[in-house]
Amino acid sequence: MMNINMLKIIVLAATLLQLFSNPAYSLPLCTDSSAPLTPKTPLLFCKYNGSSCCDSVQDSNIQKQFESMNVSQPACASLLKSILCSRCDPFSAELYTIKTAARQVPVLCNSTVSSNSSQTNQPENSYCKTVWDTCQNIPIRNSPFSPSLQGQAPTPTNSTSKLSDTWQSSSDFCNIVGGSSLDNSVCFDGQKVTLNTTTNSTKSSPSGMCLEKIGNGSYLDMVPHTDGSNRAFFSNQKGQIWLATIPEVGSGRGLELDESSPYLDLTDEVLFDTQFGLMSIALHPNFAQNGRFFASFNCDKSKSPSCGGRCACNSDVDCDPSKLTSDTPAEPCQYQSVVAEYTVNGTSSSRASVIPTASPVEVRRIFTMGLPFTSHHAGQILFGPNDGYLYFMMGDGGAGDPYNFAQNKKSLLGKIMRFDVDTIPSEADIARLGLWGNYSIPRDNPYINDKDLLPEIWALGFSNPWRCSFDAERPSYFMCADVGQNDYEEVDVITKNGNYGWRVYEGNTLYAPEQATPGGNTSAGSINPIFPVMGYKHSDVNKNEGSASITGGFFYRSTTDPCLSGSYLFGDLYAHNMWAGVETPENSGNFTKSGITFGCAKDSPEVCSLVPGSELPALGYLFSFAQDNNKDVYLLTSSGVYRIVPPSRCGYTCDLESTTTGPNPAPPSPRGSSANMLKGSTKILLMVLFFLGLGY
Ligand SMILES: *[C@@H]1O[C@H](CO)[C@@H](O)[C@H](O)[C@H]1NC(C)=O
Ligand SMILES: *[C@@H]1O[C@H](CO)[C@@H](O)[C@H](O)[C@H]1NC(C)=O
Ligand SMILES: *[C@@H]1O[C@H](CO)[C@@H](O)[C@H](O)[C@H]1NC(C)=O
Ligand SMILES: *[C@@H]1O[C@H](CO)[C@@H](O)[C@H](O)[C@H]1NC(C)=O
Ligand SMILES: *[C@@H]1O[C@H](CO)[C@@H](O)[C@H](O)[C@H]1NC(C)=O
Ligand SMILES: *[C@@H]1O[C@H](CO)[C@@H](O)[C@H](O)[C@H]1NC(C)=O
Ligand SMILES: *[C@@H]1O[C@H](CO)[C@@H](O)[C@H](O)[C@H]1NC(C)=O
Ligand SMILES: *[C@@H]1O[C@H](CO)[C@@H](O)[C@H](O)[C@H]1NC(C)=O
Ligand SMILES: *[C@@H]1O[C@H](CO)[C@@H](O)[C@H](O)[C@H]1NC(C)=O
Ligand SMILES: *[C@@H]1O[C@H](CO)[C@@H](O)[C@H](O)[C@H]1NC(C)=O
Ligand SMILES: *[C@@H]1O[C@H](CO)[C@@H](O)[C@H](O)[C@H]1NC(C)=O
Ligand SMILES: *[C@@H]1O[C@H](CO)[C@@H](O)[C@H](O)[C@H]1NC(C)=O
Repeated sequence: MMNINMLKIIVLAATLLQLFSNPAYSLPLCTDSSAPLTPKTPLLFCKYNGSSCCDSVQDSNIQKQFESMNVSQPACASLLKSILCSRCDPFSAELYTIKTAARQVPVLCNSTVSSNSSQTNQPENSYCKTVWDTCQNIPIRNSPFSPSLQGQAPTPTNSTSKLSDTWQSSSDFCNIVGGSSLDNSVCFDGQKVTLNTTTNSTKSSPSGMCLEKIGNGSYLDMVPHTDGSNRAFFSNQKGQIWLATIPEVGSGRGLELDESSPYLDLTDEVLFDTQFGLMSIALHPNFAQNGRFFASFNCDKSKSPSCGGRCACNSDVDCDPSKLTSDTPAEPCQYQSVVAEYTVNGTSSSRASVIPTASPVEVRRIFTMGLPFTSHHAGQILFGPNDGYLYFMMGDGGAGDPYNFAQNKKSLLGKIMRFDVDTIPSEADIARLGLWGNYSIPRDNPYINDKDLLPEIWALGFSNPWRCSFDAERPSYFMCADVGQNDYEEVDVITKNGNYGWRVYEGNTLYAPEQATPGGNTSAGSINPIFPVMGYKHSDVNKNEGSASITGGFFYRSTTDPCLSGSYLFGDLYAHNMWAGVETPENSGNFTKSGITFGCAKDSPEVCSLVPGSELPALGYLFSFAQDNNKDVYLLTSSGVYRIVPPSRCGYTCDLESTTTGPNPAPPSPRGSSANMLKGSTKILLMVLFFLGLGY
């Protein structure tokens, strides 16, 4: 008997140790990866008000579970109740560890740390020990502590056990069930989890973001090679893709990219027009081995035979294509959104020297969908760093979303989708399942719990998600900027099945549709929206050149500018305004943004122009941010490629910057040729205005 239990404990301990070594799951998240929400009706049993991982159904299930334990001793019953209710805690994913969902009980705070600051670091005071001391000899029916229940779904056998049947002592018990709050992970101490609000006083705030211009080309996307080298792929809106070598920071050299030799040239397939083009590229996580290359672009049905996807305006969403009027092309769904896969044979090294590819061979069509209108079709593609699935961002289709597509669970417009592109069903299964291309549905996509959702959907309620990224250090932070309509540009932390509110809300205020809405209205009371973590109002920015439009960026994880470290960087398309969002406390999801000034290093490899009458570099339009294999961050603009470099190169002070990180400090370039920048920019301006569907 003892031996079997010992064995189970060893196995369990090994599992837990493995879990403790992976503290990546910060951020308030529930055990099913969804975000905590405020339930519509308050919980009756568990004392979790406000944001919670339980709704009233889960609350009453916990109550039943509690009652089935049949514990009459009041002190122990009270502890057990709070332990069961910790499933409702906004940090339950971390308390129960999200990856394996193995635990039936949360990590109980052990000796070292407690969120109750008046508690000392004495093991005698640990919550774990309190549970042991209070409950060790109390019989518990269907005990969640029973080792046989760990690592599997609770299947009540109605057997009764005591903690002391399994463990010899409090330290025995706490070794397995307890945990200390190391590496920013959290533990349960009977109260709602609170984070350490003491921040490092050494953290300096940035005084400015220094850029160096390393290239003149205008690109929409850049992805680093998966081989870890200093090479990256750059794509332009027209449909060309180059493999370039990125110079070292401070080397004084520019981007090595031969315009005349694209790596892939998709211009024949890509519809390149004011608001259409090659939107994004992505490399399979094993690209260096399998050469699988993905591109997301628009095409014109009237020009290309392979441009024939189902129309997003269809009877499933009560949309009649023949009735589409405003802002529509000649033929309904003439313009389409495509994700296609190309294979590049040969290893990374044999492609080191760029070979022009005259006619690339598309090996697989991942997705094709007809667009009802001509704007707001986002189009970014990204592989999830944890799951290896392909995320695809899709806007609402534009025109103020009159059909209310973003809230329609049967529409893929205004959604973030998630595909498995490693398991491709047969043509027959694709047809039978009604898929939009060659992909399969990851088993844990949220439609499993919400039958109304199309299976492709990961999150909903977007207007035009324009540039998303996963934090390189904390992959649970999936950040997306969502372009606003009239007033507000937002940044969201994307979670499974999250509803980000559009077109019920713009930012966190109710939105009133401006015109007749054939798709009907979703009532505010019927949804549980997740509001932005930060953003800005249109009135906050310099709008000399047009309306505001957000461009989402990255958590800065490079050491090049230590004062930006850990900040989420984002900007406005018109590139007069940039912000750094700081999360306090870390892992809380509570962000505060501040405007950040920026300059261009005088010793840039390429000359930086200035905005006339100002000290700001004339970046043009800020299309995207990008990140290389060193985690250095880039700005891809209509005027060129800029990289964030040590602040001293622009004369900014950063106390954390070591004097050896860069060459001699140089002030921002005092004079530039702004005329150059303006020449030929009129066309770009027009394109940009429609590019993101501004002013629809
Ligand atoms: C939520 O609970 C906390 C502590 O239990 C209490 O201070 C607060 O007033 C409650 N808030 C609401 C809205 O009930
Ligand atoms: C609950 O516990 C009481 C003693 O505390 C016992 O008499 C009763 O039979 C138990 N009920 C069940 C269903 O096990
Ligand atoms: C903190 O711990 C002390 C001593 O154990 C206790 O009296 C107090 O109520 C606790 N505070 C909270 C907020 O839990
Ligand atoms: C456990 O007890 C409940 C009622 O207390 C009963 O409905 C259920 O069938 C029992 N389950 C088993 C496996 O004996
Ligand atoms: C919990 O505390 C006990 C007693 O101080 C200690 O022996 C044990 O290593 C701790 N366990 C963990 C996981 O921190
Ligand atoms: C909170 O964080 C600070 C700085 O990282 C650290 O010095 C302090 O010990 C932490 N406090 C607790 C209770 O963990
Ligand atoms: C605080 O500073 C220490 C030492 O400089 C570092 O190891 C730790 O990660 C920092 N913590 C935070 C929250 O920045
Ligand atoms: C970039 O543009 C500047 C100014 O127009 C020009 O002097 C320079 O040669 C260009 N660089 C490259 C690599 O084409
Ligand atoms: C790449 O190789 C595979 C198998 O080796 C072949 O089927 C495919 O046609 C090749 N693709 C190209 C673009 O050459
Ligand atoms: C799957 O990919 C093949 C090859 O590109 C293509 O012929 C076929 O139409 C695709 N299926 C769908 C449903 O897109
Ligand atoms: C939706 O709301 C708008 C603005 O409040 C209103 O004009 C329109 O009639 C509503 N549509 C429906 C179908 O209720
Ligand atoms: C959120 O961050 C702000 C600014 O740092 C801080 O004042 C506030 O206390 C934080 N809120 C919470 C709930 O931690």
